Amino acid sequence: MNQANKNKKMSYYKIQNLEQYFKHYNKSIREPRKFWGKIAEENFVWYQTWDKVVDFNMAEAEVKWFTEAKVNIVKNCIDRHLARRGNKTAIIFEPNNINEEAQHITYNDLHQRVCKMANVLREQGISKGDRVCIYLPMIPELAVSVLACARIGAIHSVVFAGFSATAVSSRINDSECKMVVTSDGGFRGEKTIDLKGIIDEALINCPSVKNVLVVKRTNQSIFMETGRDQWLQPLLDNASDNNVAEIMDAEDPLFILYTSGSTGKPKGMVHTTAGYMVYTAYTFKNVFQHEENDIFWCTADIGWITGHSYILYGPLLNGATTVMFEGIPSYPDFSRFWEVIEKHKITQFYTAPTAIRSLAKESIDFVQKYPLKSLKVIGTVGEPINEEAWHWYNNHVGGKRCPVVDTWWQTETGGIMISPIAFVTPTKPTYATLPLPGIQPVLMDEKRNEIEGNQKEGSLCIKFPWPAMARTIWGNHQRFKDTYFSTFPGKYFTGDGALRDEVGYYRITGRVDDVIIVSGHNLGTAPIEDAINEHPAVSESAIVGFPHDIKGNALYGFVILKDTGETRHREHLKKEINQHISDHIGPIAKLDKIQFVTGLPKTRSGKIMRRILRKIAEGDLSNFGDITTLLNPEIVEEIVEGKL
Ligand code: PRX
Repeated sequence: MNQANKNKKMSYYKIQNLEQYFKHYNKSIREPRKFWGKIAEENFVWYQTWDKVVDFNMAEAEVKWFTEAKVNIVKNCIDRHLARRGNKTAIIFEPNNINEEAQHITYNDLHQRVCKMANVLREQGISKGDRVCIYLPMIPELAVSVLACARIGAIHSVVFAGFSATAVSSRINDSECKMVVTSDGGFRGEKTIDLKGIIDEALINCPSVKNVLVVKRTNQSIFMETGRDQWLQPLLDNASDNNVAEIMDAEDPLFILYTSGSTGKPKGMVHTTAGYMVYTAYTFKNVFQHEENDIFWCTADIGWITGHSYILYGPLLNGATTVMFEGIPSYPDFSRFWEVIEKHKITQFYTAPTAIRSLAKESIDFVQKYPLKSLKVIGTVGEPINEEAWHWYNNHVGGKRCPVVDTWWQTETGGIMISPIAFVTPTKPTYATLPLPGIQPVLMDEKRNEIEGNQKEGSLCIKFPWPAMARTIWGNHQRFKDTYFSTFPGKYFTGDGALRDEVGYYRITGRVDDVIIVSGHNLGTAPIEDAINEHPAVSESAIVGFPHDIKGNALYGFVILKDTGETRHREHLKKEINQHISDHIGPIAKLDKIQFVTGLPKTRSGKIMRRILRKIAEGDLSNFGDITTLLNPEIVEEIVEGKL
């Protein structure tokens, strides 16, 4: 065998069969440095390579990948593809309105647009290390803004355009963003959302923001503050498309993305450049078995990690064609997803179980109208998928031909961690199956010991670093360490429970902390309780999750009013409380049920016994276990009666 063939054979970048998966997996565990070093070397362009592939101290939550290497992720996403793929479509933009034409943005176009935007950012005073808040609907300018930031080394902080003014301002202030990029508004189904109005309100309390750039999308009339706000288009029209990318250190922050925590303040997860680049590219290629002419569609919003990693970075790093969809699955009717798959000949489709459940409850005709023959792989993410939804997806969308990749991962992990590899790993309904190469999951028991063997359940931890793991929480490394690395010292604690079946497949059973996943959105109970408690009529509250057919979980609030004699206007108060939540966090955090109570079950140390509230919310009123340790055991009966 000549050297070229031998090297080709040794590539670890793409797994082609199960035997190779095990081979690569074992290599990645035995020799992680060789494994990731080779992948990094062969598949990316670097200004300078690394000293060490990985350097870490898990107990201190200190992790570095590709130390001393110099790189620019956007050069890897766009520039290096231009020679071979300049005229290939990079992004297909599918608008909300079916009468508006889809846009096909080639790699050449994208390059030009990103360079112009990068120059505008620099002209507006943004430089390496500055934070830029991006609050945009799913339009091409969102992708362009994210990539332009990364090109000049500015740290993007994309805030999902469904968050309220209060939520946006706390995120802007936490990372002291210098600029906001937003739009006059956004289209979502039949609604037009006043995004600029939300930003105006948010910025009343954001002294760090000097400039606001505004994309014209809806043409609605908006307020423009002199000296602060500018329309983006004229600036782009005057900008050069010649832009020199910033040379970034491997460990320079690439972006901040906020995720809910079990305490009040959202956590600004910091992802850095090189490790995130290598891992998102690698996982995209393998999990979805991407090939050159595929058309990949992930239905997430770029405001979430799924959109960052698998609408933008992962696909573009592989020179893929990726779809950005502005709309919602129910508009103009429930066949929209299937119509778009047919229209653009989508080959890989990636969505959330909640979307599947909501479409499965509609007439089967909506999906059966479309042959969906272009599809090769279908995936899910964001929450456990129940067996019924898995089968519906497999039968009616995948036509039993397409592997269902149930991908488990988190904002913190940066990329997919446990998942079938399409056509390689035999799937099993409701199981995320096997860890990807480089990922070492372990199950831990209550005594903090590692659980050996199969057919076991425990808390899911990861015991060795992987390239895309978050490096810190912006401005609060101690919180990062406390949240993820102290429960099981030396290991990354995911906050999820999992079980391992007889062959070593993993099934994620759900959160083991106070985070509740509602419609695939990660919601901490504390910030919602804080928002409710700010209502003038409320003295205290507790939120728990309960099973919901479509959302997976819905929120149930137990609320103590200040004046317990108050019986008037209860329904009105419930509406007000939900409005309060909407204003403070966003409509996604609204409660499905609210029960007014006179007290909450508490331990003698004052901790709310959520276990009991969860049972009540679920409607399981039979056996609450030992409640004698409660400070106020009588309240349990009262709450149960109030529910009946
Ligand atoms: O509980 C797990 C659930 O979503 C959490 C992470 O949420 P977030 O950071 O918002 O990221 C979501 C998109 C990556 C996890 O801790 N989760 C995610 N994927 C799955 C899942 N639960 C079960 N199965 C999955 N495939």
